[in-house]
Amino acid sequence: MKKITTIPGDGIGKEVMEAGLYILNKLDLNIDYSPQEAGKELYEKTNDNLPPETIKSAKNTDATLFGAVTSIPGEKSAIIELRKALNVYANLRPVKSYPGVKGIYDDVDFLIVRENTEGLYSQIEETTKEGAIAKRVITKKASQRICDLAFQQAIKEDRKSVTCVNKANILKKTDGLFKETFYKVAKNYPEIKANDFYVDATAMYLITDPQRFDVIVTTNLFGDILSDEGAGLVGGLGIAPSGNIGSENGLFEPVHGSAPDIAGQNISNPVSMILTISMMLEYLNQDYYADKIKQATVTVLKEGKVKTPDLGGSNKTMELAEEINKKLQEI
Ligand code: NAI
Ligand code: MG
Repeated sequence: MKKITTIPGDGIGKEVMEAGLYILNKLDLNIDYSPQEAGKELYEKTNDNLPPETIKSAKNTDATLFGAVTSIPGEKSAIIELRKALNVYANLRPVKSYPGVKGIYDDVDFLIVRENTEGLYSQIEETTKEGAIAKRVITKKASQRICDLAFQQAIKEDRKSVTCVNKANILKKTDGLFKETFYKVAKNYPEIKANDFYVDATAMYLITDPQRFDVIVTTNLFGDILSDEGAGLVGGLGIAPSGNIGSENGLFEPVHGSAPDIAGQNISNPVSMILTISMMLEYLNQDYYADKIKQATVTVLKEGKVKTPDLGGSNKTMELAEEINKKLQEI
């Protein structure tokens, strides 16, 4: 039996969580849930956006499924704090085209491995007389473990190359260290091709020639920006899943936020969450069910009979989830 912490959060986080759990519960899996809270709505009631019980549950269960939260001005971000508390140092963001989903390309398939614990997300900022300064923390340890995980993931997914994305020409000390560490780690994986590009060139290649990428490994902020660009390449945030992985915990979340512009209308696309659940099942070594969910989702996208507005249709969140469930029962 697997135990999972669920944190719906705010806005469409709740809608996609409901749809995702609907699908998860249709599988023949023995799952025990620990439902927990986080986010802005909770903060308005309790003055706390990430209670200790939530963190404790996330630490003590086999995996955590997170919807999305609305950020609160002046408060630390619940999701960033949770990632830190769980020490999930790698953020895996697959960028993949699906037949039936209109993207800029229809043959993109790469994985972004984003360092999740440091870089500009260390949030070490200070106000100075002249303005303000942010510190960008890069350590050998974090660089090594993220590069190592990128190569291991490349092997696991039968991919051929890993590209280190950096700005070592300007950030000579921080990204210099990241790049140097990458090539050191690469020596342990001679079967995988290793190369590197600067982040600005990468931003361009993602538009002009995204097929050149297989696995990208990069620091926190670059990974954040490039993965939204990646989502844009293949049909938007409504289909973009992600997983945060550490040596002891796994935290899985769709890439999107709480989408206040569409929240409450039940028109959010649940596919990002459903593909996120597939990633979580893979992490839990339930590859059979992970594949099954993915296959059902991909088939529904391809057929294109039931689509939420972001996919160009007019169906509701649960109608798309129900269509995926129907396919699930046929596989
Ligand atoms: P967002 O991802 O919530 O929305 C961006 C755009 O994509 C919106 O037009 C939205 O309607 C659309 N969209 C996103 N997910 C969708 C889905 N599943 N189906 C259909 N359309 C979808 O980003 P935004 O608007 O910048 O942020 C809204 C709030 O969410 C902010 O408070 C932000 O800080 C927070 N946020 C939280 C994240 C998290 O909890 N991990 C991640 C990103 C943002
Ligand atoms: Mg982001």
